[in-house]
Order: sequence, then C-alpha cells, then structure tokens
Amino acid sequence: MKQQLLEKFGEIFGEEGGEARVYFAPGRVNLIGEHTDYNGGHVFPCALTIGTYGVARKRKDRALHMYSLNFESLGVIESSLEELEPSREAGWTNYPKGVIWAFLQKGMEVTNGMDLLLFGNIPNGSGLSSSASVEVLTGFILRDMYGFRASNQDLALIGQYAENCYNGVNCGIMDQFAIAMGKAGSAIFLDTATMEYEYAPIALEGAKLVISCSNKKRGLGDSKYNERRSECETALAELQKVVDIRTLGDLDEEQFETYKGAIQDAVRVRRARHAVYENQRTIKAVAALKANDIEAFGRLMNASHVSLRDDYEVTGPELDTLVEEAWKVEGVIGSRMTGAGFGGCTVSLVKDGAIETFQEQVGRKYRETIGYDADFYVVEIGGGSVVL
Ligand code: GLA
Repeated sequence: MKQQLLEKFGEIFGEEGGEARVYFAPGRVNLIGEHTDYNGGHVFPCALTIGTYGVARKRKDRALHMYSLNFESLGVIESSLEELEPSREAGWTNYPKGVIWAFLQKGMEVTNGMDLLLFGNIPNGSGLSSSASVEVLTGFILRDMYGFRASNQDLALIGQYAENCYNGVNCGIMDQFAIAMGKAGSAIFLDTATMEYEYAPIALEGAKLVISCSNKKRGLGDSKYNERRSECETALAELQKVVDIRTLGDLDEEQFETYKGAIQDAVRVRRARHAVYENQRTIKAVAALKANDIEAFGRLMNASHVSLRDDYEVTGPELDTLVEEAWKVEGVIGSRMTGAGFGGCTVSLVKDGAIETFQEQVGRKYRETIGYDADFYVVEIGGGSVVL
C-alpha cells in the first residue's frame, strides 16, 4: 500500500520537491453511547482497521495542492494558505484546510503549503467518520512536518475545533478522539465531561462486529444534528433552574424522573431522557463487558437503538429496517444504529456461525423494504493514527 501510494503521489505531483511521507488515520465505530458526547456523558467507540491514507510533502511556496483517489474526476484541487475559508468549490479539501486553519488559530505557524494525496477505504457518507479521519490525519501530518508540540489528544481537539468552526457541524469529541487515540483490540470508555478515559479490551470469542451500511447518505443530517444539540441545551437550561447540574450527563435515571417536569416541552423531555438514559446504559454496558456478560451488553445495544428511534428520533426507515431485521436473526447478540444517525450505518454483534445468514436475511429484507442494497462489513478493531 505504502509503495503504491508513493508512486501515485509521484505521478500526480512529480518527484521533485523532496521526500513525501505516508500517514494513516482510522475510521471509527461507536459501540454504545450515542449523542451523549455533547451532553457531558460517556461514549464507547473503537478505531477500525479501515481509514484514510495520506501522502504529504511540504512545499516551498504557500500553495495547497490536494488530490483524492476517491474523487479522481475532480483532479488536483488548488488553493493556498491565503484562502483558508470554507467554500463550496473546495469540496472535500474543506476538511484538511479546516485543520490548517485551526492550527493557525491555535498559534501554530503553518508557514508553507503542501502537496497532499489521500486515499480512504471507509465507505463514503457511511457514518464511520471519514471526515474526522481526514481531520485527524491532517493534524498528524502537520505535527510531523513542523514538529509542533501537540499530544494525540490535542490533535483530536483541534480536529473537532475545525469541524465546529470551519465546517459548521457542532459535533462532540467522540470521533476525533477515537481516531487519534485508538488501540487495536480495545474500545475506549471516555467520559466527555472530564476527558478521563480507559481502554477496555473487546475479546469477542466466537462473535464479530458487523457493520451494515444503509447507503442512505446523511444529507440533511448535519442541520438535524445541530438541532438535536440545541434541543438538549435548552432542556439543560430548564433543568438547571431546579437542580444544580453542569450537563445532562450529571443526572441518573431517578434524578431525571424527579426533575423532568422543569422541561417545558414534551419533545425536549424525550431528547433529554435519551441523553440521560443512554449515558447510564453506556456505563452499564462497559460494566457488563468487564463481567464477561456479552448478552447483557447486547441487550443494552438494543435498548440504545429503541431510545434513538423513539426518543431522539434520529433513525429513519433505513436504519430501523437494518436493526429490526438483525434482531430477528438467531445468533445476533445486539444491534443498533451507530454515529449521528439519519442514514449511515448500524453495528451488530453477531456470532460467527450466524454471519452468513445475517447478511443474506437482513440484506434481502432491506432490499425488499427500502428498494436498494445495503452493504455489510465484518470489521476489526484497529489502532490509532500513525506515520507509516
Ligand atoms: C457524530 C458526531 C459525534 C457524536 C455522534 C453521535 O458522529 O461527530 O461527536 O455526537 O455523532 O453520538
């Protein structure tokens, strides 16, 4: 892979101009803890072995020349350090450019342009964080190129900052954190209120993680995402009038039931209920995993989906069909939507012997109900971002 990418880089950008280096940043899947990361709750994501490869070389001038093997028809997209503003024409380059902008905002002097070639094997728009992967990748490249003092965790925060302030999605820290801090074979139990985290080994004896991709692009999802976030913020402000909390993650189920009357709107009660209960489910799920009770973990995954469907309303017919059909397959330990929702993927824990039936049965029902195919990936938990 590395050699092929370097050759392609030479073909596109020429051999002159010094040595180019190769980098990798994974995609991620969240096992449980959805829409909790901007509510001061816990998340439990892991990095994948699929992700984004980047080849980069510092330029002598201030030009930015970027090429993606995933969008070859767009050719080399050119801009410069003088043009660090989001634009429609910039297309996918808004992600790496956003991170360069964020470094400058944080006082890290990016003085030169770069030639950048990307190749991603995360299915596009799948909700496995292809954009966060590009953001963290760019952070790794810049740190390596300039020797900036920034920890992997700092690079995650810078990636999130770029997504929030340059690309306009008010996301939490989960995706960039999982991608920058991933560890092979483990998921990350992160408390987004304190940023304390712990690696939890996922030893799935006799079972695998299967991602089912709905092939429904997120589209409107980004604006809905910001809407959910502000609904939670309003609910929090209402609750703060009657109870001393900093985030929805500070409440357990019982406290929520006691104070929920302060929320003035029935829809907002459901949104906040999801945030509170999902956080508690995540804590319970990690405890179940530690106790080797994978069945309990699976039940919590299922309950997570129900709450995302009924209370948070971020699923839709595509994700619901994938999950509800998965639940019917014998040998499925748990199944739920993963990521922001409104399209994208589901994650299922499936016993080895049931994987084939799962793909056949869920695939067929999905085509019958939705009218086009879903894609299935049996995935492995990979490490974080690296210089190759
Ligand atoms: C997206 C965001 C994350 C998180 C999830 C939902 O992936 O980028 O920060 O909020 O949605 O859990």
